Amino acid sequence: MPTPARLPATTRIAYGGDYNPEQWPRHVWEEDYAAFGLASVDTVTLGVFAWSYLQPDEDTYDFTRLDAIVERAVAGGRQIVLATATGALPPWLAHRHPEVNRTDFEGRRHVYGQRHNACPSSPVFRRLSAALADRIAERYAGTPGLVAWHVGNEYGGACYCENCAAGFRDWLRERYGTIERLNDAWNATFWSHLFSDWEQVVVPNALSEHWRGPDHTAFQGITLDYLRFMSEAMRQNFRDEKAAIRRHDAETPVTTNFMGAPFRGIDYHRWADDLDFASWDNYPPGPREHARMALVHDQMRGLKGGAPFWLMEQTPSITASRDVNPVKRPGVLRLWSWQAVAHGADAVLYFQMRQSKGACEKYHGAVLDHAGRTDTRAFREVAALGGELEALGDAVLGARTPARVALVFDWDSWWAAEITDGLNRHVKYPAVVLAYYRALWDAGAQVDVVPCTASFDAYDVVVAPLLHMVKGDTASRLHDVVARGGSVLGTFWSGRVDEDDNAFLTDVPGPLAGLFGLRVEETDSAAPGVTNPVTLKGDGGELVSDASLVFELVVPEGADVVGTYGADFYAGTPAVTRMRHGAGDVPGGRAEEAPGGRAGEAWYVATGLDDAGVRWVVRRVLDRHGLVGPYADAADVELAVRERDGERTSFVLHHGLEPVDVAAHASGVDLLTGRRVTQGETLHLEPTDVVVLRED
Ligand code: GLA
Ligand code: ZN
Repeated sequence: MPTPARLPATTRIAYGGDYNPEQWPRHVWEEDYAAFGLASVDTVTLGVFAWSYLQPDEDTYDFTRLDAIVERAVAGGRQIVLATATGALPPWLAHRHPEVNRTDFEGRRHVYGQRHNACPSSPVFRRLSAALADRIAERYAGTPGLVAWHVGNEYGGACYCENCAAGFRDWLRERYGTIERLNDAWNATFWSHLFSDWEQVVVPNALSEHWRGPDHTAFQGITLDYLRFMSEAMRQNFRDEKAAIRRHDAETPVTTNFMGAPFRGIDYHRWADDLDFASWDNYPPGPREHARMALVHDQMRGLKGGAPFWLMEQTPSITASRDVNPVKRPGVLRLWSWQAVAHGADAVLYFQMRQSKGACEKYHGAVLDHAGRTDTRAFREVAALGGELEALGDAVLGARTPARVALVFDWDSWWAAEITDGLNRHVKYPAVVLAYYRALWDAGAQVDVVPCTASFDAYDVVVAPLLHMVKGDTASRLHDVVARGGSVLGTFWSGRVDEDDNAFLTDVPGPLAGLFGLRVEETDSAAPGVTNPVTLKGDGGELVSDASLVFELVVPEGADVVGTYGADFYAGTPAVTRMRHGAGDVPGGRAEEAPGGRAGEAWYVATGLDDAGVRWVVRRVLDRHGLVGPYADAADVELAVRERDGERTSFVLHHGLEPVDVAAHASGVDLLTGRRVTQGETLHLEPTDVVVLRED
């Protein structure tokens, strides 16, 4: 279990966002605050990129500007999320101490520019960033309305400098203890890599183990450990700053804004204990990403054991960073914001409150445009949403999601699978996870996205796509799920390697072989576009799914065949299987705990089924447990539930492009309109419609 969440003390869904008034004259601030009033904005995030004006040189701090900004927020009665201002370096720092600049994968030491680019191992960066956080916390701890601390900004990237190399060696020494153990972990006899001294270890980059970029490495163990180390090095930066804050403020919750997608370089699960609450920035890559957004929301909620998270950033209209930057269509901002709340967000915040004057984000959308107008479509939508959130009050604050399904997400498996040779480079871990999540979302299941170390006790169904690496007691805990009558769903490429990324010296899928009741003898793969028709058969009918990319050749050892390949030399052999577990089959199985003495099931999908195929399998698994939701057959209608103190609020969100009629799943009152809804009545949903039903 992660350390318990500590959430900002707010009385309603916090609403507002990043506010950088240092970019415009004082009189504009008054317009800003007048507009905030119109939009029911109660929260501003201040100082994210303030380092260069807070510390004009190494020995001087100057809080004049930030004081004024904070004072204005306090005078306006706003809640403040205060940054430690370390999201971007000041020029003098990079100039005076070149070591703070990162060295890239090609081995080039960068010079001053951009942001989010400090070397995490630089002693100078570590000292000065913590010192800045310390000064800021010392000065502003206790500020009225200060609800949260915001450390850094969107941690990510990597550095390959000498300081990082030294840090890596220290981290390895700590992890492995002896050089023999290191050699064993990295299987260093392969290609004559036996190290005899820690000093011989260099960073894995284009100059050493890699060719064709960061995913092609001669030694996966080295590269995997470097990914782990980088994530930990940045976590240490976060911890340094948090410790500085805690010297002056023992209470106010501390977070950092993660990136969605999710982001490969940072193992959010390993960071989770250090966060008081999770937060993230939602910039979906396209307009039809509702399942992906839901996945990341559920993942953020999973970081702190199901506690609410904050939506720290989203754009009210356009982004600036893409080649093409379409506006959010009418109603979409509202829909996506309520989706965040539906999945557990206790804040809806924007980047940014007023549009930047210059530089690369000058066209990025904002609550207020350059002219400061409050009669634009974007502002009107922001203000209307602000009014709704204000009217909702504390109705769902702190409420949790009653999920019976867990989706396992594992950064180690992600890294290990994507840096490995010999399989299929076109398979991407997040895409596989998303395919399974989308099918769960589609079926209307409430899902917790959890690490493999999470307790599975609360779940009927555990879906663990592409669990390439099996660590610790994960296998036995998955066995426990089926032993008590639950279901486990896994896929190809699972159970391949141990925590060191070395192959299990057993049949594939290693420690999961008994669970799934099979062995994988060969792994065929094909280029994108090449398909093999897989016929799926079971209660509820038959479906032919075009499978692609990966085709494992499965030998059942107890499992029943659910789907078979239709082509190639393995036509007729199993592509999807289901292992039924009676208590006797399961190591440590406890039949008496299985509901109604029912056996559990472990489903294995040995190939890259298309979406329809994944949906077919997922529905069958959910069906067993009565977990297919009431709107499962209405495309793009989402149901998400939050509960608190026995009160249940359900959110019905229509992401589709056409109106739809559905039968209401429950009786209650729509908190947005006050309208009574009776179970079974026809709910007419226009595109982007939202119903927030306080159930009877
Ligand atoms: C990120 C950053 C912000 C801003 C936005 C623009 O989320 O945290 O500073 O650059 O992107 O989309
Ligand atoms: Zn470095």
